[in-house]
Amino acid sequence: MTNVITYGTFDLLHKGHIRLLERAASFGDNLIVGLSSDEFNAVKGKKAYTSFDDRKYILESIKYVDKVIPETNWDQKIEDVKKFNIDVFVMGDDWTGKFDFLKEYCKVVYLPRTTGISTTKIKNDLHN
Ligand code: CTP
Repeated sequence: MTNVITYGTFDLLHKGHIRLLERAASFGDNLIVGLSSDEFNAVKGKKAYTSFDDRKYILESIKYVDKVIPETNWDQKIEDVKKFNIDVFVMGDDWTGKFDFLKEYCKVVYLPRTTGISTTKIKNDLHN
């Protein structure tokens, strides 16, 4: 059993998110998503349109996702990797290098982002 983990806010779910989850899932048998809580988003200066509970509900209905856990702070990743016996940590390449400290515990992969789409872009486009 190969366990994979990724993290994010996944607000206003879009194709870039699905492609990230699809590729992350392909690295193993079990994909866990660490989903940023509304409180943690506030710390990051982000505000999700969709509540944590609804973002979790939506992610859990995606075929690539096996489990959703809350991401509540910057420092939980090492503990999560140990607790869930993670083999592969995956993030989009906007985070390249930022989580290399996890290489001591598991494989770390940064995947190319899907071009032309983001939650921020959707919000801006709808606003204009
Ligand atoms: N992601 C991606 N391609 C995109 C957008 C996001 O691969 N076009 C990936 C990110 O790199 C991250 C995950 O999806 O690993 C969750 O990203 P998130 O920050 O929740 O989504 P964004 O659309 O980037 O949101 P925002 O615009 O608020 O930063």
